[in-house]
Amino acid sequence: MNILDQPAAPEQAVRERVKASHTLDGDAARLTHLYRGWASTFDLDQARVGYCGPMIVAELAGAVQTAYLAGQRNAIAILDAGCGTGLVGVQLERLGFRLIDGFDLSKEMADKARQTGAYRHARGDVDLNGRLSDYSSESYDLTVCSGVFTLGHVRPDGLRELARVTRPNGFVIASTRKSYAETTFFEGEVRRLQDDGVLILAQCLRNGRYVAEEDGHYWVFQVPKKAPGPTEERPS
Ligand SMILES: C[S@@+](CC[C@H](N)C(=O)[O-])C[C@H]1O[C@@H](n2cnc3c(N)ncnc32)[C@H](O)[C@@H]1O
Repeated sequence: MNILDQPAAPEQAVRERVKASHTLDGDAARLTHLYRGWASTFDLDQARVGYCGPMIVAELAGAVQTAYLAGQRNAIAILDAGCGTGLVGVQLERLGFRLIDGFDLSKEMADKARQTGAYRHARGDVDLNGRLSDYSSESYDLTVCSGVFTLGHVRPDGLRELARVTRPNGFVIASTRKSYAETTFFEGEVRRLQDDGVLILAQCLRNGRYVAEEDGHYWVFQVPKKAPGPTEERPS
């Protein structure tokens, strides 16, 4: 048999699928369709391509909690945005977090996340390219997001919604694929959100491991305490 006739190695097939997902332009219908068909093999496929975003994001959440957030880890409320099959939630649970909510555009991916048992709630049909209308402002101590600010998925302005649902002095932790950060206005959006007083960049781990074929950046933002309004400032 000619080598070209041989079936592609499993890793290569996964890489092709990932590449296809990067061409979807944030189109909710096409992303939903793609992930509906991927939910059952997603975890195995990600292991094949060395995806380590969930572990790094969860470990950053653990470090941030220990360094900055008062209270027991099991009482820290976390939102996992674009939770997929729950790879991040499983890591967070391993680290002692217990109040973990997740949402995803894909119902089938969120169903898998729920089946891990790591989440209080895992909800499908929630689109981070729009307003998270079912989520109140300032609800979470930590908001985490792995593998979602990636090509063809969620636009950089999704960060603003993640900041909105996170309480003042809480943190947003997100990964970006390196090529996503280079080819979208993500860094410009970070500057804009800082200028608007929505987020403060606390740390960025650049060029960390992400998948075998490409590095990623890991961003840690703090949501600033709101400046007191003019009437609140006045001493009584
Ligand atoms: C590469 S997977 C990452 C899943 C999970 N966070 C992880 O690290 O394993 C990307 C996920 O983002 C979800 N997604 C894509 N676009 C989205 C959107 N606009 N709003 C919410 N989730 C979205 C997909 O359904 C998919 O589950």
